[in-house]
Amino acid sequence: MRTLRALVAAALLCLAPAVSAHAAADLTYDFENGTTQGWGPRGGGVSVTVTSDAAHGGTSSLLTTGRTATWHGASIAAPFVRGVGYTVTAYARLVSGQPAGTIALTVQRTPAGGDTTYERVAAATVTDGGWTRLSGSYLFTAESADVQLYAESSDATGQFYLDDIVVTPLGDPTREPVSSDFEDGTAQDWAPRAAAVLQPGAEAAHAGSRSLAVTGRSASWDGPALNVLGRMAKGDKYALSVWVRLGPDATAGRLGLSIERRTGGTPSYERVVAPKDVPVGEWVQLSGTYTLAYDVEFLSVYVESDSGTFPFYLDDFSMKYIQPKPIQTDIPALKDEVPFVMGSALTRPDALGVHGELLARHFSGVTPGNELKWDATEPREGEFTFTDGDFLVDFATRHGMTIRGHTLAWHSQTPDWVFQNADKETLLRRLETHVRTLVTRYKGKIAAWDVVNEVVDENQPDGLRRSKWYEIAGLDFIRTAFRVAHEADPDAKLFINDYNTEFPRKREALYALVKRLKEEGVPIDGVGHQLHLNIEHPPASSVEATIERFATLGVDQQITELDVSIYTDFVSSYDTIPPELLVQQGHRYKELFDVFRRQAASLSSVTVWGESDDVSWLRSWPIPRLNAPLLFDDDLQAKPAYWGVVDPSRLAPTVHRLEAPAGTPKVDGRRDLEWDLLPDSPIARAGDVSAGFQARSSAKGLYVLAEVTDPTVGKGDQVTFTVDGTPYVVKRTGGPKAAVRPTATGYRIEALIGTGYAGPTPPATSSDVEVAVRDSAGASTSWTGKVTATPAVKLTSAAHRTPVLDGVVDRAWSAAPEIRTATWIQGTSGATANVRSLWSGSTLYVLAQVADPTLSEESPNPWEQDSVEIFVDPGNGKTKGYEDDDGQYRISFSGRITVGGTFDAGGVKDHVKAVAKTVPGGYVVEAAIDLPTITLAPGTLLGFDAQVNDATGPARTSAVTWNDNTGRSYLDTSHWGVLRLAQG
Ligand code: XIL
Repeated sequence: MRTLRALVAAALLCLAPAVSAHAAADLTYDFENGTTQGWGPRGGGVSVTVTSDAAHGGTSSLLTTGRTATWHGASIAAPFVRGVGYTVTAYARLVSGQPAGTIALTVQRTPAGGDTTYERVAAATVTDGGWTRLSGSYLFTAESADVQLYAESSDATGQFYLDDIVVTPLGDPTREPVSSDFEDGTAQDWAPRAAAVLQPGAEAAHAGSRSLAVTGRSASWDGPALNVLGRMAKGDKYALSVWVRLGPDATAGRLGLSIERRTGGTPSYERVVAPKDVPVGEWVQLSGTYTLAYDVEFLSVYVESDSGTFPFYLDDFSMKYIQPKPIQTDIPALKDEVPFVMGSALTRPDALGVHGELLARHFSGVTPGNELKWDATEPREGEFTFTDGDFLVDFATRHGMTIRGHTLAWHSQTPDWVFQNADKETLLRRLETHVRTLVTRYKGKIAAWDVVNEVVDENQPDGLRRSKWYEIAGLDFIRTAFRVAHEADPDAKLFINDYNTEFPRKREALYALVKRLKEEGVPIDGVGHQLHLNIEHPPASSVEATIERFATLGVDQQITELDVSIYTDFVSSYDTIPPELLVQQGHRYKELFDVFRRQAASLSSVTVWGESDDVSWLRSWPIPRLNAPLLFDDDLQAKPAYWGVVDPSRLAPTVHRLEAPAGTPKVDGRRDLEWDLLPDSPIARAGDVSAGFQARSSAKGLYVLAEVTDPTVGKGDQVTFTVDGTPYVVKRTGGPKAAVRPTATGYRIEALIGTGYAGPTPPATSSDVEVAVRDSAGASTSWTGKVTATPAVKLTSAAHRTPVLDGVVDRAWSAAPEIRTATWIQGTSGATANVRSLWSGSTLYVLAQVADPTLSEESPNPWEQDSVEIFVDPGNGKTKGYEDDDGQYRISFSGRITVGGTFDAGGVKDHVKAVAKTVPGGYVVEAAIDLPTITLAPGTLLGFDAQVNDATGPARTSAVTWNDNTGRSYLDTSHWGVLRLAQG
């Protein structure tokens, strides 16, 4: 059986001129070089020679004589590749005196497992009086062996000349789609990687009536593979897709799509689609893109499982070249528009093709995204590999870009051997060798190193992450890494790099560490803020606060991994991204770059984590989903985010949304509890002014609050609230229906504006509101949005007592007020709970007395079992999406605890204890939730909610909460109620 690769090789060997795998090339047989150019006789006694007796062009042609059967003639191993179409033209003429006959060009081939076929490509009646043109086209799709092109004649003994035979591929093989549907009953070139058995058949089919059954796999990586060598060109991107289904008797399994490539005999394996769940009985599509970034001598695409050797079916594979759009050359280069080095992360494929052009045009710095990490550079002790690192360093050097080395010591992407059998001394020796080798190799080329990455954990008493590095070597691994890096290249700038540094608790933990290291004399030059943000949170002002804080330490700072996810949680995903979200992202980038420009004296570079959305790591982390966090889109075209950086005047306006819960705060310039139920919406800083804003709806009108930051008092200081076109100006000196008071950083305005509504509940309509803040120096900033009236935010309190956690309702509980779940998010009746809270020390206690006569834990999903959920947000941050210390604590009627929160609920999952007891008519849950990230004190506000899930058999039949009516409490903390800690 000849493989595709063999066919390509045959085409390359036999022909002159050779077919190129990279560009469409015609094959011309003109016989002018005096040889038969690979053509030979077909049939016994036939002879094929080059002659100058006749010629169509030039002076020679190919003469066929000695034929005794119609199928005798001249033939050649056909230059056809399966799946590629061709046009074929040729000229024929009979030797003088021969009677007219039909001359045909025919393809003979033998499909795998089938009978030899003969397909006519072109034919014409030919005479001895002149040259006749033959032309036709040809394509074959089934895996075939012995593919021949030949010329024959209807006259069994006719002698003929052939000349100027031209075979034109309709496409370049690297541009032509590859597909397999197994409908012809063959494996269509798919072959096992090891012992697997591939059997085309009709047991299952995604489309049509057949698929490829895969059984007898010897390992997770064993299964069907397709040779695609010659079908992908270096630097080009391809879309791959295949459908898979579990085989008979397989009950569960995860399958993915991978590529094996070999360069210089060394195989590498890359994932196109990470293994994903294939539910029993369902066809699942594995689709992704792949860019070939290497010269290869072997290239194969294959399906593998993440574990196990279960059987599966494969169907409807396709691989298609993705034509890149040219990059825009009529827009400003980012690097010319900012007062610091503008960097991008890149991986090897990004340096090629249009991605490489985009990088070269817009960026003055780069950070290799993976190629300098430990797993890439020292996979086995003492075995250093720098091929990819060197490639990217060369690319950057050629383009005059500065390079950030990322990263020398990290807990992730570090091979196991580093920590194996390692006492402190061994570990530090390994670290020293690694750091010295890398920094020395790139001395003078890499300007800045992330010496240590992500070493801070603000939830530890000493603020340090409990990594293997830390557990074995304590702080000394950090000290050693910096010392050795400095020794190896005293001119390189050495950074400590981390994420979430814009959050106050992490900011302070990192600050304390850097201060301490500096005081010890550790050669640390700067702090890298990764800045993996999302579309909503945190505000640009927290980023600015972080930069200002570290500026006081006198260290250099860099933004090292900026991206802005369009999601606020870890589970949602869009099929298509709403365009207004991209506009909102544009404004978010604008606000961030306003901060970076203002703080340019403290910042030496700003690096985005990838040059375009198609290569972002957020396409696979924390789950595979469509994300668009960067400045250029999948086609490398400028997004609103780009314009947010370069020219915000080109951004469409963004319309914010704000809820105005029912409320009647006192208009006295004091910030009463009512306002503290929700956070202020930020109005971004311009010049020296910024503000926070809130509203409450009432029958009397709209209550508004503005907390203005404006350090210098001036006559022109004022805020204009415009509601549905009517402006209300409130000056710093006061105004009608308004109260103004000075604050530490500016002033606070409370006002009652607009008209109220009639009736007991606010209408569901929203008002158009603009809040414009101005100062005497002429600086101004504003917020524009729709304000919608919503029900009041519920508030309850926790008494200061310690209960016994035993499922028995002891007397302590009677000190706390009781709340009731009555907000139905599924159904309109069912189990409900009365809930009370207590607090002491750093613990919040919650009692839920649930009325639910029939109890079930049948569903495998904990939220579909009879259970109580308690939601706690220690800062009452009311963020869309969970912050690290926000938690969803679920306790089933039998006392089973499950926890939700950010990503894997890492920050909260060990913080809950609970006891549940069934009682007549229901059950009682007593829970103790530890809240170590804040100090509990009388007056502390917690975001808080409670939910009861009511199961009937294996299904949830109703769910009810205390405050949140959105049904999204598990994703979004912003609609939870508020719990206030009481004194007594
Ligand atoms: C990411 C890379 O972009 C991915 O390709 C890789 O699979 C995982 O790591 N913080 C860091 C970076 O410091 O090294 C990470 O990069 C993203 C989070």
